[in-house]
Amino acid sequence: MTKILVTGGMGFIGSHTVVELIQAGYEPIIIDNLSNSSIKVLDGIEKITGQRPYFAQIDCQDKEALQQVMQEQGPISAIIHFAASKAVGESVEKPLLYYRNNLVSLLNLLDLMPSNGIEHIVFSSSCTVYGQPEVLPVTENAPIQPALSPYGNTKQICEEIITDTAYANKQLHAILLRYFNPIGAHESAEIGELPIGVPQNLIPFVTQTAAGIREQLKVFGNDYNTSDGSCIRDYINVTDLAKAHVAAVKRLTEGLQKKSVEVFNIGTGNGLSVLEIIKAFEKVTGQKLNYAIVGRREGDIEQVWADATYANTELGWKAEKNIEETLLSAWKWQEKLSQKSKV
Ligand code: WQD
Repeated sequence: MTKILVTGGMGFIGSHTVVELIQAGYEPIIIDNLSNSSIKVLDGIEKITGQRPYFAQIDCQDKEALQQVMQEQGPISAIIHFAASKAVGESVEKPLLYYRNNLVSLLNLLDLMPSNGIEHIVFSSSCTVYGQPEVLPVTENAPIQPALSPYGNTKQICEEIITDTAYANKQLHAILLRYFNPIGAHESAEIGELPIGVPQNLIPFVTQTAAGIREQLKVFGNDYNTSDGSCIRDYINVTDLAKAHVAAVKRLTEGLQKKSVEVFNIGTGNGLSVLEIIKAFEKVTGQKLNYAIVGRREGDIEQVWADATYANTELGWKAEKNIEETLLSAWKWQEKLSQKSKV
Protein backbone atom coordinates (compact mmCIF):
# COMPACT_ATOMS: atom_id res chain seq x y z
CA MET A 1 0.00 0.00 0.00
CA THR A 2 1.22 3.55 -0.73
CA LYS A 3 2.49 5.05 2.54
CA ILE A 4 1.88 8.74 3.23
CA LEU A 5 3.61 10.41 6.18
CA VAL A 6 1.10 12.82 7.74
CA THR A 7 2.70 15.28 10.15
CA GLY A 8 0.14 16.82 12.52
CA GLY A 9 -2.21 14.01 11.53
CA MET A 10 -4.05 14.11 14.85
CA GLY A 11 -5.11 17.72 14.37
CA PHE A 12 -8.36 19.10 13.00
CA ILE A 13 -7.55 19.04 9.28
CA GLY A 14 -4.92 16.30 9.64
CA SER A 15 -7.30 13.76 11.19
CA HIS A 16 -9.97 14.38 8.54
CA THR A 17 -7.32 13.93 5.87
CA VAL A 18 -6.15 10.64 7.44
CA VAL A 19 -9.75 9.36 7.17
CA GLU A 20 -9.97 10.30 3.49
CA LEU A 21 -6.53 8.82 2.76
CA ILE A 22 -7.55 5.47 4.26
CA GLN A 23 -10.84 5.49 2.39
CA ALA A 24 -8.94 6.23 -0.84
CA GLY A 25 -6.71 3.18 -0.26
CA TYR A 26 -3.57 4.87 1.07
CA GLU A 27 -1.69 3.92 4.27
CA PRO A 28 -1.21 7.03 6.43
CA ILE A 29 1.69 7.11 8.90
CA ILE A 30 0.80 9.71 11.56
CA ILE A 31 3.30 11.71 13.57
CA ASP A 32 2.07 14.39 15.93
CA ASN A 33 3.45 15.96 19.13
CA LEU A 34 -0.12 16.15 20.55
CA SER A 35 0.47 19.80 21.55
CA ASN A 36 -2.89 20.72 20.01
CA SER A 37 -4.72 17.39 19.88
CA SER A 38 -5.60 14.24 21.78
CA ILE A 39 -4.68 10.56 21.35
CA LYS A 40 -8.46 9.89 21.44
CA VAL A 41 -8.62 11.15 17.84
CA LEU A 42 -7.17 7.76 16.84
CA ASP A 43 -10.30 6.09 18.26
CA GLY A 44 -12.47 8.33 16.12
CA ILE A 45 -10.45 7.52 12.99
CA GLU A 46 -10.75 3.80 13.76
CA LYS A 47 -14.53 4.07 14.34
CA ILE A 48 -14.99 5.75 10.96
CA THR A 49 -12.59 3.66 8.86
CA GLY A 50 -12.26 0.38 10.78
CA GLN A 51 -8.48 0.87 10.68
CA ARG A 52 -6.12 2.21 13.36
CA PRO A 53 -3.22 3.85 11.48
CA TYR A 54 0.36 3.87 12.77
CA PHE A 55 0.92 6.77 15.17
CA ALA A 56 4.08 8.05 16.85
CA GLN A 57 4.20 11.02 19.21
CA ILE A 58 6.99 12.98 17.54
CA ASP A 59 7.77 16.68 17.33
CA CYS A 60 8.97 17.61 13.83
CA GLN A 61 11.64 19.78 15.45
CA ASP A 62 13.28 16.50 16.59
CA LYS A 63 15.29 15.57 13.50
CA GLU A 64 16.62 12.27 14.89
CA ALA A 65 13.10 11.09 15.70
CA LEU A 66 11.95 12.08 12.21
CA GLN A 67 14.81 10.13 10.62
CA GLN A 68 13.97 7.09 12.72
CA VAL A 69 10.30 7.02 11.72
CA MET A 70 11.15 7.51 8.03
CA GLN A 71 13.61 4.61 8.24
CA GLU A 72 11.35 2.27 10.21
CA GLN A 73 8.10 3.02 8.40
CA GLY A 74 9.51 3.54 4.90
CA PRO A 75 9.35 3.50 1.98
CA ILE A 76 7.21 6.62 2.15
CA SER A 77 5.74 7.93 -1.12
CA ALA A 78 4.76 11.41 0.02
CA ILE A 79 4.52 13.71 3.02
CA ILE A 80 1.53 15.85 3.92
CA HIS A 81 2.89 18.47 6.29
CA PHE A 82 0.27 19.90 8.66
CA ALA A 83 2.31 20.12 11.88
CA ALA A 84 2.63 23.80 12.79
CA SER A 85 1.54 26.36 15.36
CA LYS A 86 -1.47 28.11 13.84
CA ALA A 87 -3.08 30.64 16.20
CA VAL A 88 -2.78 34.10 14.65
CA GLY A 89 -3.16 36.01 17.92
CA GLU A 90 -0.73 33.75 19.83
CA SER A 91 1.86 34.21 17.08
CA VAL A 92 1.89 37.96 17.77
CA GLU A 93 2.60 37.30 21.46
CA LYS A 94 5.13 34.47 20.89
CA PRO A 95 6.84 35.11 17.50
CA LEU A 96 9.99 33.10 18.28
CA LEU A 97 7.95 29.99 19.14
CA TYR A 98 6.15 30.31 15.81
CA TYR A 99 9.28 30.97 13.70
CA ARG A 100 11.20 28.17 15.41
CA ASN A 101 8.45 25.54 15.28
CA ASN A 102 7.01 26.27 11.86
CA LEU A 103 10.31 26.81 10.05
CA VAL A 104 12.55 24.24 11.78
CA SER A 105 9.89 21.53 11.35
CA LEU A 106 9.78 22.13 7.60
CA LEU A 107 13.58 22.42 7.27
CA ASN A 108 14.00 19.07 9.04
CA LEU A 109 11.57 17.35 6.69
CA LEU A 110 13.15 18.82 3.55
CA ASP A 111 16.60 17.91 4.83
CA LEU A 112 15.63 14.27 5.40
CA MET A 113 13.53 13.65 2.28
CA PRO A 114 16.33 12.94 -0.27
CA SER A 115 18.23 10.37 1.82
CA ASN A 116 14.95 8.59 2.59
CA GLY A 117 13.88 8.53 -1.06
CA ILE A 118 10.88 10.79 -0.47
CA GLU A 119 10.24 13.07 -3.45
CA HIS A 120 6.76 14.51 -2.84
CA ILE A 121 5.39 16.92 -0.27
CA VAL A 122 1.99 18.57 0.14
CA PHE A 123 2.19 21.71 2.28
CA SER A 124 -0.58 23.19 4.40
CA SER A 125 -0.60 26.85 3.46
CA SER A 126 -3.21 29.55 3.92
CA CYS A 127 -5.11 32.29 2.08
CA THR A 128 -3.63 34.57 4.71
CA VAL A 129 -0.68 35.01 2.31
CA TYR A 130 -2.95 37.17 0.13
CA GLY A 131 -3.76 39.64 2.91
CA GLN A 132 -6.64 41.82 1.68
CA PRO A 133 -6.71 41.02 -2.07
CA GLU A 134 -7.27 43.92 -4.47
CA VAL A 135 -9.41 41.72 -6.73
CA LEU A 136 -12.02 39.15 -5.62
CA PRO A 137 -12.40 36.24 -5.97
CA VAL A 138 -8.69 35.73 -5.39
CA THR A 139 -6.68 33.55 -7.76
CA GLU A 140 -3.30 31.86 -7.19
CA ASN A 141 -1.66 34.63 -9.24
CA ALA A 142 -2.78 37.35 -6.84
CA PRO A 143 0.11 39.22 -5.28
CA ILE A 144 1.42 38.01 -1.93
CA GLN A 145 0.95 40.83 0.57
CA PRO A 146 3.16 41.57 3.60
CA ALA A 147 2.03 39.23 6.38
CA LEU A 148 -0.13 40.69 9.14
CA SER A 149 1.12 38.22 11.76
CA PRO A 150 4.15 36.03 12.47
CA TYR A 151 1.87 33.05 11.79
CA GLY A 152 1.04 34.34 8.32
CA ASN A 153 4.70 35.20 7.75
CA THR A 154 5.77 31.63 8.56
CA LYS A 155 3.38 30.37 5.87
CA GLN A 156 4.89 32.75 3.32
CA ILE A 157 8.47 31.86 4.31
CA CYS A 158 7.68 28.13 4.20
CA GLU A 159 6.29 28.50 0.67
CA GLU A 160 9.52 30.24 -0.37
CA ILE A 161 11.71 27.60 1.34
CA ILE A 162 9.88 24.84 -0.54
CA THR A 163 10.08 26.72 -3.86
CA ASP A 164 13.81 27.40 -3.55
CA THR A 165 14.53 23.83 -2.41
CA ALA A 166 12.57 22.36 -5.34
CA TYR A 167 14.54 24.62 -7.69
CA ALA A 168 17.83 23.27 -6.32
CA ASN A 169 16.73 19.64 -6.02
CA LYS A 170 14.99 18.44 -9.18
CA GLN A 171 13.80 15.30 -7.39
CA LEU A 172 11.56 17.37 -5.09
CA HIS A 173 7.96 17.95 -6.19
CA ALA A 174 5.59 19.99 -4.04
CA ILE A 175 1.98 21.10 -3.95
CA LEU A 176 1.07 24.09 -1.79
CA LEU A 177 -2.58 24.15 -0.73
CA ARG A 178 -3.79 27.61 0.32
CA TYR A 179 -6.76 26.95 2.58
CA PHE A 180 -9.53 29.44 3.11
CA ASN A 181 -11.54 28.99 6.32
CA PRO A 182 -11.82 25.30 7.31
CA ILE A 183 -14.96 24.58 9.36
CA GLY A 184 -17.34 21.78 10.34
CA ALA A 185 -16.68 18.18 11.35
CA HIS A 186 -16.86 14.68 9.90
CA GLU A 187 -20.50 13.71 9.24
CA SER A 188 -20.16 10.82 11.73
CA ALA A 189 -19.37 13.30 14.55
CA GLU A 190 -16.53 10.92 15.54
CA ILE A 191 -13.86 13.56 14.83
CA GLY A 192 -13.94 17.35 14.66
CA GLU A 193 -12.27 20.52 15.88
CA LEU A 194 -10.87 20.44 19.43
CA PRO A 195 -10.11 24.09 20.25
CA ILE A 196 -8.06 24.49 23.42
CA GLY A 197 -9.31 27.24 25.75
CA VAL A 198 -11.35 30.13 24.40
CA PRO A 199 -11.84 29.60 20.64
CA GLN A 200 -10.26 32.26 18.43
CA ASN A 201 -12.12 31.17 15.31
CA LEU A 202 -15.74 31.98 14.53
CA ILE A 203 -17.40 28.57 14.16
CA PRO A 204 -16.17 26.93 17.38
CA PHE A 205 -17.17 30.11 19.23
CA VAL A 206 -20.62 29.95 17.60
CA THR A 207 -21.16 26.29 18.57
CA GLN A 208 -19.88 26.82 22.13
CA THR A 209 -22.20 29.81 22.53
CA ALA A 210 -25.15 27.75 21.27
CA ALA A 211 -24.13 24.98 23.70
CA GLY A 212 -24.13 27.44 26.60
CA ILE A 213 -20.37 27.13 27.16
CA ARG A 214 -19.82 30.76 26.13
CA GLU A 215 -22.14 33.51 27.30
CA GLN A 216 -22.27 35.55 24.12
CA LEU A 217 -20.71 35.63 20.65
CA LYS A 218 -19.04 38.91 19.82
CA VAL A 219 -19.27 39.93 16.20
CA PHE A 220 -16.11 41.87 15.47
CA GLY A 221 -17.44 44.85 13.56
CA ASN A 222 -20.36 45.64 11.29
CA ASP A 223 -18.95 48.78 9.72
CA TYR A 224 -17.02 47.11 6.92
CA ASN A 225 -17.70 47.88 3.28
CA THR A 226 -19.77 44.69 2.79
CA SER A 227 -23.47 43.99 2.23
CA ASP A 228 -24.29 43.82 5.96
CA GLY A 229 -21.14 45.45 7.32
CA SER A 230 -19.61 42.26 8.74
CA CYS A 231 -16.51 40.53 7.33
CA ILE A 232 -16.76 38.03 4.49
CA ARG A 233 -14.86 34.73 4.34
CA ASP A 234 -14.84 31.54 2.26
CA TYR A 235 -15.88 28.83 4.72
CA ILE A 236 -14.91 25.36 3.47
CA ASN A 237 -16.06 22.04 4.87
CA VAL A 238 -13.13 20.24 6.48
CA THR A 239 -13.96 16.94 4.72
CA ASP A 240 -13.93 18.71 1.35
CA LEU A 241 -10.59 20.24 2.32
CA ALA A 242 -9.29 16.79 3.35
CA LYS A 243 -10.25 15.41 -0.07
CA ALA A 244 -8.17 18.12 -1.74
CA HIS A 245 -5.11 16.64 0.00
CA VAL A 246 -5.89 13.18 -1.35
CA ALA A 247 -6.21 14.68 -4.83
CA ALA A 248 -2.83 16.41 -4.37
CA VAL A 249 -1.13 13.21 -3.16
CA LYS A 250 -2.60 11.32 -6.12
CA ARG A 251 -1.35 13.96 -8.56
CA LEU A 252 2.18 13.79 -7.14
CA THR A 253 2.53 10.04 -6.67
CA GLU A 254 1.17 9.40 -10.16
CA GLY A 255 3.63 11.92 -11.63
CA LEU A 256 0.85 14.11 -13.03
CA GLN A 257 2.18 17.42 -11.72
CA LYS A 258 3.20 19.88 -14.44
CA LYS A 259 5.65 21.98 -12.41
CA SER A 260 8.01 21.16 -9.56
CA VAL A 261 5.92 23.40 -7.29
CA GLU A 262 2.18 23.90 -7.86
CA VAL A 263 -0.10 26.18 -5.83
CA PHE A 264 -3.86 25.71 -5.42
CA ASN A 265 -6.54 27.77 -3.68
CA ILE A 266 -8.77 25.42 -1.72
CA GLY A 267 -12.05 27.22 -1.10
CA THR A 268 -15.70 26.99 -2.11
CA GLY A 269 -15.60 30.12 -4.27
CA ASN A 270 -18.45 31.62 -2.20
CA GLY A 271 -18.06 34.40 0.35
CA LEU A 272 -20.34 34.59 3.39
CA SER A 273 -20.51 37.32 6.03
CA VAL A 274 -20.37 36.69 9.77
CA LEU A 275 -24.03 37.73 10.10
CA GLU A 276 -25.02 35.41 7.25
CA ILE A 277 -23.22 32.55 9.04
CA ILE A 278 -25.11 33.32 12.24
CA LYS A 279 -28.46 33.35 10.41
CA ALA A 280 -27.65 30.09 8.60
CA PHE A 281 -26.55 28.43 11.85
CA GLU A 282 -29.76 29.45 13.63
CA LYS A 283 -31.84 28.22 10.69
CA VAL A 284 -30.27 24.75 10.32
CA THR A 285 -29.89 24.01 14.04
CA GLY A 286 -32.94 25.77 15.48
CA GLN A 287 -30.58 27.24 18.09
CA LYS A 288 -30.96 30.96 18.88
CA LEU A 289 -27.54 32.59 19.13
CA ASN A 290 -26.85 35.25 21.74
CA TYR A 291 -24.55 37.70 19.98
CA ALA A 292 -23.58 41.34 20.09
CA ILE A 293 -21.84 43.60 17.61
CA VAL A 294 -18.59 44.97 19.04
CA GLY A 295 -15.56 46.78 17.62
CA ARG A 296 -13.35 45.41 14.88
CA ARG A 297 -10.67 42.79 15.71
CA GLU A 298 -7.15 44.02 14.98
CA GLY A 299 -5.61 42.34 11.94
CA ASP A 300 -8.89 41.23 10.39
CA ILE A 301 -9.17 41.73 6.65
CA GLU A 302 -12.51 42.88 5.29
CA GLN A 303 -13.34 40.24 2.71
CA VAL A 304 -11.76 37.30 0.92
CA TRP A 305 -13.02 34.34 -1.02
CA ALA A 306 -11.39 31.94 -3.46
CA ASP A 307 -11.35 31.50 -7.17
CA ALA A 308 -10.92 27.71 -7.01
CA THR A 309 -11.11 27.15 -10.77
CA TYR A 310 -7.50 25.97 -11.00
CA ALA A 311 -8.03 23.28 -8.33
CA ASN A 312 -11.28 22.30 -10.05
CA THR A 313 -9.63 21.80 -13.43
CA GLU A 314 -6.13 20.62 -12.51
CA LEU A 315 -6.72 18.69 -9.29
CA GLY A 316 -10.15 17.50 -10.32
CA TRP A 317 -11.33 18.71 -6.93
CA LYS A 318 -14.35 20.82 -6.01
CA ALA A 319 -16.04 21.62 -2.69
CA GLU A 320 -19.21 19.51 -2.52
CA LYS A 321 -20.80 20.25 0.84
CA ASN A 322 -22.94 23.36 1.32
CA ILE A 323 -22.80 25.74 4.27
CA GLU A 324 -25.99 24.42 5.87
CA GLU A 325 -24.79 20.81 6.16
CA THR A 326 -21.37 22.05 7.20
CA LEU A 327 -22.75 24.17 10.04
CA LEU A 328 -24.99 21.28 11.07
CA SER A 329 -21.94 18.98 11.21
CA ALA A 330 -20.21 21.50 13.49
CA TRP A 331 -23.26 21.58 15.76
CA LYS A 332 -23.58 17.75 15.87
CA TRP A 333 -19.90 17.57 16.86
CA GLN A 334 -20.37 20.21 19.56
CA GLU A 335 -23.34 18.28 20.98
CA LYS A 336 -21.18 15.11 21.08
CA LEU A 337 -18.40 17.01 22.91
CA SER A 338 -20.91 18.44 25.37
CA GLN A 339 -22.31 14.95 26.07
CA LYS A 340 -18.78 13.55 26.60
CA SER A 341 -17.93 16.35 29.03
CA LYS A 342 -20.96 15.43 31.15
CA VAL A 343 -19.86 11.80 31.49
C1 WQD B 1 -13.58 34.68 10.70
C2 WQD B 1 -14.46 35.93 10.81
C3 WQD B 1 -13.74 37.53 12.44
C4 WQD B 1 -14.45 35.09 15.98
C5 WQD B 1 -7.96 32.58 10.65
C6 WQD B 1 -6.54 32.57 10.19
C7 WQD B 1 -6.42 31.75 8.93
C8 WQD B 1 -6.97 30.39 9.21
C9 WQD B 1 -8.42 30.47 9.66
C10 WQD B 1 -5.18 28.93 9.81
C11 WQD B 1 -13.65 37.20 10.96
C12 WQD B 1 -15.09 36.96 12.81
C13 WQD B 1 -14.34 35.51 14.67
C14 WQD B 1 -15.40 35.71 16.85
C15 WQD B 1 -16.09 37.13 15.04
N1 WQD B 1 -6.18 29.71 10.17
N2 WQD B 1 -15.15 36.51 14.22
N3 WQD B 1 -16.18 36.71 16.35
O1 WQD B 1 -9.42 35.23 11.01
O2 WQD B 1 -10.63 34.60 8.85
O3 WQD B 1 -8.75 33.20 9.66
O4 WQD B 1 -8.43 31.27 10.85
O5 WQD B 1 -4.76 28.69 8.73
O6 WQD B 1 -5.06 31.68 8.58
O7 WQD B 1 -6.17 33.90 9.87
O8 WQD B 1 -10.88 33.16 10.87
O9 WQD B 1 -12.69 32.27 12.28
O10 WQD B 1 -10.96 33.80 13.34
O11 WQD B 1 -12.66 34.75 11.79
O12 WQD B 1 -16.80 38.04 14.61
O13 WQD B 1 -15.53 35.37 18.06
O14 WQD B 1 -15.26 35.82 11.99
O15 WQD B 1 -13.71 38.92 12.67
O16 WQD B 1 -14.31 38.22 10.23
P1 WQD B 1 -9.92 34.18 10.09
P2 WQD B 1 -11.79 33.45 12.16
